Amino acid sequence: MTQKPVTTADLRRLKELRQPIAMITAYDYPSARLAEEAGVDVILVGDSLGMVVLGYDSTIPVTMEDMLHHTKAVTRAAKRALVVADLPFLSYHGSLEESVKNAGRLLQEGLAKAVKLEGGAEVVPVVRRCVQAGIPVMGHIGLTPQSVHQLGGYKVQGKDVETAARLLREARELEEAGVFALVLECVPAEVAAKISESVAVPVIGIGAGAGCDGQVLVFHDILSYASEIKPKFVKQYADVGTVIRQAVAAYVAEVRARTFPAAEHAFAASEETIEYLYGKGVTP
Ligand code: KIV
Repeated sequence: MTQKPVTTADLRRLKELRQPIAMITAYDYPSARLAEEAGVDVILVGDSLGMVVLGYDSTIPVTMEDMLHHTKAVTRAAKRALVVADLPFLSYHGSLEESVKNAGRLLQEGLAKAVKLEGGAEVVPVVRRCVQAGIPVMGHIGLTPQSVHQLGGYKVQGKDVETAARLLREARELEEAGVFALVLECVPAEVAAKISESVAVPVIGIGAGAGCDGQVLVFHDILSYASEIKPKFVKQYADVGTVIRQAVAAYVAEVRARTFPAAEHAFAASEETIEYLYGKGVTP
């Protein structure tokens, strides 16, 4: 039985009911299917795919075409979870028209239900324009990986009074501009809890402590699935990397030892064909 699709209004209701929202990234059909079967509320097609799937060392090289390609695969699998797709680097920093067009492509071609973009006051006009156009927008403040070079690395944000106050201000400005939810990344727990109680929209934390309205983590990180980074805030729920490596190594060994394929993995020809091929008098 398919359950009703999760909407942005449902997420708001979960916050009101103080029920934590579970969000995870997914980048392809199988990961989205497994996430959905596990019951997540929101699937994020994060531009983190640049690192965990495409092998870049940051999210910066990820393009609109990459995002569309992966969003299409995810939305083919996700029937219940709300699919949010990231707007990649520089896709919302040109004209407002261009930004709305890019956001719209993720919904119209990728079939996502919403987009996410990084930044504070500087992205407020884009948020407003997208929302006016009927595109639900999730904000993303704190550590914003697309600005990694400007931030000087992947560092915790909002540790001092000035930067904590700025994050609080940005959260309110984005809420006022119409975001339906906010991601808060790598922010001290006390600051994140204060921000979460200061806005009515759900705040989804990553490395932001337990006081947020929900949590998001990267699929490959919680599974240790060939993920090279191990940030403090990630909890590893399984080690599928080891399982996969051992399984593939066993396959390689069996191929080399000629123990795979066994008879049960092969197809048999008819007696007549066998007689024809291998019987007396047939010269291949
Ligand atoms: O791209 C991503 O995976 C993200 C999460 C870290 C929130 O933006």
